[in-house]
Amino acid sequence: MLSSSLPRYFFFLFFVFLCFISNVSPGIAKANGKSNSPQSSSSSSPLRFGRNGEFKILQVADMHYADGKATLCEDVLPEQFSGCSDLNTTAFLERMIRAEKPDLIVFTGDNIFGSDATDPVKSLEAAFAPAIASKIPWAAVLGNHDQESTLSREGVMKHIVSLEGTLSRLNPPAQTVDGFGNYNLEVLGVGDSTIQNKSVFNLYFLDSGDYSTVPSIPGYGWIKPSQQLWFQRTSSQLQETYMSKPEAQKTPAPGLAYFHIPLPEYASFDSSNFTGVKQEGISSASVNSGFFATMVASGDVKAVFTGHDHVNDFCGELIGLRLCYAGGFGYHAYGKAGWARRARMVLATLEKTDDGGWGGVKSIRTWKRLDDQHLSTIDAQILWSKSSSGRRRKGSSNGN
Ligand SMILES: *[C@@H]1O[C@H](CO)[C@@H](O)[C@H](O)[C@H]1NC(C)=O
Ligand SMILES: *[C@@H]1O[C@H](CO)[C@@H](O)[C@H](O)[C@H]1NC(C)=O
Ligand SMILES: *[C@@H]1O[C@H](CO)[C@@H](O)[C@H](O)[C@H]1NC(C)=O
Repeated sequence: MLSSSLPRYFFFLFFVFLCFISNVSPGIAKANGKSNSPQSSSSSSPLRFGRNGEFKILQVADMHYADGKATLCEDVLPEQFSGCSDLNTTAFLERMIRAEKPDLIVFTGDNIFGSDATDPVKSLEAAFAPAIASKIPWAAVLGNHDQESTLSREGVMKHIVSLEGTLSRLNPPAQTVDGFGNYNLEVLGVGDSTIQNKSVFNLYFLDSGDYSTVPSIPGYGWIKPSQQLWFQRTSSQLQETYMSKPEAQKTPAPGLAYFHIPLPEYASFDSSNFTGVKQEGISSASVNSGFFATMVASGDVKAVFTGHDHVNDFCGELIGLRLCYAGGFGYHAYGKAGWARRARMVLATLEKTDDGGWGGVKSIRTWKRLDDQHLSTIDAQILWSKSSSGRRRKGSSNGN
């Protein structure tokens, strides 16, 4: 093809240029505070889709763990009170892990109920013990009750990060971010596939705070501009990498966001347009810090998962983003007697490529499991699928 030496010379120049680009880009990444982190490079991420083309996440919201056997259950039927304690929360987590064999376990805050925890270190270790024992990677964020014992929010998050098997991190390096426990995890394509070194599924974890520290603003905390800036940078960097060579992909890899306190936009739904139930108000911050719009604008996040409101467990869609609750998991957390404690599952499935290998994520589904005799599955739904969103985009651009 390159018959004359002139194109060959340009080809050579282009090659030199490519080498230059690839050499300077780590510097650019460092300026963004990413390359100092050992897990920021895809190749060191321990998470990867399985050979069946699937990646499954168990979300555990609001364990409210305290002193184990000595900490009694709340809001169970009168005949269920006796012999019911934090150990029932432990047993539920063990059963969930056995039944679903997830690839990742995510704890979305109020992991411990600080004001009833005599020793927060012990409570944290007991709360996460089934995840640690399972050897399955796990990640956690803070709620508004985790720091109510003798450890500060920083202290709780630092202890979580030190526990075995966790992928949780304190905060991004070389970047000042509000809160503790803002980080992302990359899930790589199937080993031996063409995109085995790319993050095909991105998970964002944020600290949604506890309570407002602004005297004139009452109520719960919110996701601050510094956190949103970190999210934006991380998201655009991941999208750029995914859509550049080698193996440049055409559309961004989908992402999910996990944190504790629901966004004000969770109040946009009623039973006509969500799956699940709403049995209490939406306890978001009393101000809207704009994280919903930030995520919609970023384009990669497809669904958000929170806890905090234990007897809400719905998922609704607003402007292409699914907003989901998990429903309360813990027995020492308020709930509703006779309404089972529950957990939310997410399953991402890859698409088959024309040559029979695995490509990027094709669909993301969810369901919940109840802590009843058979761990009943309820409310299965599709959160996102590549073909339908592709078609929609095409349709609207043709229409305009
Ligand atoms: C709590 O655990 C005990 C011991 O396994 C069990 O007998 C009891 O039924 C459980 N209670 C609830 C509400 O699940
Ligand atoms: C992925 O990275 C590994 C290790 O750096 C390398 O051996 C392999 O060739 C890469 N695979 C692809 C498809 O890029
Ligand atoms: C859900 O339906 C209600 C009417 O029943 C409507 O007011 C609301 O805007 C809808 N929400 C969304 C996100 O479509």
